[in-house]
Amino acid sequence: MARVLGTGHAVPRHVVTNADLTAFMETSDEWIQQRSGIRERRWSRQGFATQGEARNVDLALEALHMALSSAKIDSSALDAVVYATITPDEEFPGSGVLLQELLAPAKAVPVFEVRNHCAGFIYALAVARAYIDSGTYKHVAVIGCELQSTGLLLSSAGRGTAVLFGDGAGAFVLGASTFDQPGIIGIELCSDGAFADKLGVDAPGFARACALQASHFDGEQPLTAPRMEGQLVFKMASQKMPEVIRKVLQKCGLGLENLDVIVPHQANQRIIEMVGRDLGCPEKIISNIARYGNTTAASIPLALSEAVTQGKIQHGQLVCLVSFGAGFSWGAALIRW
Ligand code: ACO
Repeated sequence: MARVLGTGHAVPRHVVTNADLTAFMETSDEWIQQRSGIRERRWSRQGFATQGEARNVDLALEALHMALSSAKIDSSALDAVVYATITPDEEFPGSGVLLQELLAPAKAVPVFEVRNHCAGFIYALAVARAYIDSGTYKHVAVIGCELQSTGLLLSSAGRGTAVLFGDGAGAFVLGASTFDQPGIIGIELCSDGAFADKLGVDAPGFARACALQASHFDGEQPLTAPRMEGQLVFKMASQKMPEVIRKVLQKCGLGLENLDVIVPHQANQRIIEMVGRDLGCPEKIISNIARYGNTTAASIPLALSEAVTQGKIQHGQLVCLVSFGAGFSWGAALIRW
């Protein structure tokens, strides 16, 4: 069985408060806090970074080093890296090889991206777990990392999404557990492409006659900026996350009463609270969205790694990771810590 040997996280140093955003768009600290629970986020976007700009892979590397150090293994012991992101530094090659270039000593191990948006980390974890459980690899790193800030539209036209997203990274190092050791005991994944047009970014898109042109950046809703049917996303996320938690628990022969900690995707504090109320255990839910905003594929490993360093997750506890996002895609993972 695969188990989590170590966790790590990293965020850019520069804090952007809700008040800072009022310089670019018609918004307010009160609106943002009431609707999302977000007070501040970390951005490495030019003009906000005080110490130079970070790339996606730089944040990933910092998180991975922390995870390797808590796992007490060296990067040379990694057999594969699975990297979840929707904000890669380059169109290609993928973030995995850009990270591999920074890892020393480098080995020619397989590295690749999983692009499943807010649910990306749980999908990547499922892939890594399968490699370990099948005996293919001994140590696999799973990364969730986003550099959202450079893709946000900083104007009143973009305020519906720009105030929500932040930059950050989280990483797990997985290894094999022996029979009596804890580990990842269940993962449930779901997708429904009927909702593919409800949340996304349209350009660049290679199905277009011209994948990227100047007009894609123009107007009130440029094709390069995120678009979202916020209320539908809210409703579906609040329903699907408790549903998939119940499903994975049932498949593992466990119940809600067995759960100790829930680490949900940090999309919105109101969604997180609705999930807690639905399950009847709001006190078990970890939330750090107030300080980091929505960091998409990074939000779960970032919240979990931070909770581990704060002593909020103890050996032997039953931890549930749960996410919902674009696609729509969602899923849950059960880990005996
Ligand atoms: N500041 C001030 N006013 C704003 C802002 C802003 N940043 N953004 C929108 N408004 C305005 C709108 O223009 C609108 O004005 P109008 O009434 O004059 O037309 C008004 O506020 C209400 O807008 P709505 O979009 O209807 O606001 P809503 O109450 O739905 O809240 C929100 C928006 C917070 C996005 C909500 O729909 C939500 O939480 N959705 C969940 C989706 C989510 O969290 N997505 C994150 C990414 S996806 C994921 O991670 C799962």
